[in-house]
This record gives sequence, structure tokens and C-alpha cells, in this order.
Amino acid sequence: MVIEGYYSQVADEIVTAFNTGRMLDLGTGPGYLPIEIAKRAPEITIVGVDLSRQLILMARGNAARAGLAHQLSFEVGNSAKLRFEDESFDTVLSTGMLHSLKDPVAVFKEIFRVLKKGGRAWVYDPSNVTAYIDRKQWKESLNFRERFFLWLFMLLGLHKPIAAYRREQVMPMVETAGFVEVGIDERENEIRIQLRK
Ligand SMILES: C[S@@+](CC[C@H](N)C(=O)[O-])C[C@H]1O[C@@H](n2cnc3c(N)ncnc32)[C@H](O)[C@@H]1O
Repeated sequence: MVIEGYYSQVADEIVTAFNTGRMLDLGTGPGYLPIEIAKRAPEITIVGVDLSRQLILMARGNAARAGLAHQLSFEVGNSAKLRFEDESFDTVLSTGMLHSLKDPVAVFKEIFRVLKKGGRAWVYDPSNVTAYIDRKQWKESLNFRERFFLWLFMLLGLHKPIAAYRREQVMPMVETAGFVEVGIDERENEIRIQLRK
């Protein structure tokens, strides 16, 4: 996979900071990040949540093929209304979901609620994941159907990336949710938010 490099790099950073405990990955998609983390940290268990049933089925298949089903579980759910109990996770992660949320404050409130005291959340939002990949290599990796949709998207002008949030937009959101320990790293195409409860 072409964007594997992004997940490997983020997984390395995550396991350097956390290598045990119960982790929640919001907007997990096909489960690539949890799989990379589980490979590196056999003590971690991760629950991945996504709105899309199809992506959750893919994530379960990917975890089983990687031989990591004992560490990983995936379920359909809305990050703005999680079914988990208060203070039930050591760490919460999310990559690539923030900019697409209708109500980001509701999601930050849920992250605050399900985190244990002292627990940490890393919300990384590359507004445009393709910023991390070699575009030529990426285009070559697409099958005929994917190329057709890319062409259609470009024709309709729908391919333009949505800008990542800025620090001044994120601060009131995380403060409303209850976080006081906040670190924000703004990059060209990405915002990295690190929170402690
Ligand atoms: C760009 S993808 C990122 C997937 C994965 N985290 C990654 O980095 O490859 C964003 C994902 O967030 C999911 N999503 C969007 N809003 C959500 C919500 N409110 N609750 C759960 N998942 C959501 C989408 O279904 C999609 O799979």
C-alpha cells in the first residue's frame, strides 16, 4: 500500500509514547493504523470504531489476515455518541477524521468522557492524506474503477482537499470538552493535537 509509510511513521511515534493499555481508534477506516500499532506493541489492545459498516468488515478481515485479531476489535459506531463507559480507555487516537466531522466538539467531549484520568488522546488530521504519498506512485496503484472515479471527481471539481483546522479553531473546541493540557503542532497539510485528561 502506498500510504503505508504514513501509518508506519505514526505507529512508531505512538508506541514510543504508549506500549500497553486499552486504546480506542476513532474513524478507524480499514484498520491500518491499529494493525501497525498492534504489530509493534503486543501488550496493547485496540478497539476501532467507524461509521461505515463496510470499512469495519474490511478492518476485521485485515486484522485476521495479519494474525492480530486477538489484540484488535472493530465495531460500527458514531464518535459523537460512543457506547463505552466513562474512563474506560488509556489512550484515544484518531487520524484523518476531524475535518470531516459535523460536530467536532461533541467528539472531543466523548473523547474526554471515555479517557481515564491522566489518559491521553492524539488526534492527527492530515486534511489530505495524499500530501504524504508520491502522487505518481499512488495513481499507478489505482485500479480501473478507482481511476474512473478519480477522473470523475476531478471533472466535477470535488477533488480539492479541505483545509486542515488551525490552532485558533481547535483550542475552543478542546477547552469546551474539558481539556486543559493541550499540545498543538500545525504543519502544512496537517494538524496534530495531543491532549491529556
Ligand atoms: C479519511 S478516513 C481515515 C481512516 C483512518 N483513520 C486512516 O487514517 O486511514 C475518515 C474515517 O472517519 C470515519 N468517520 C467520519 N465521521 C465519523 C464519526 N462521526 N464516527 C466514526 N467514524 C467516522 C469515516 O467513515 C472514515 O472511515
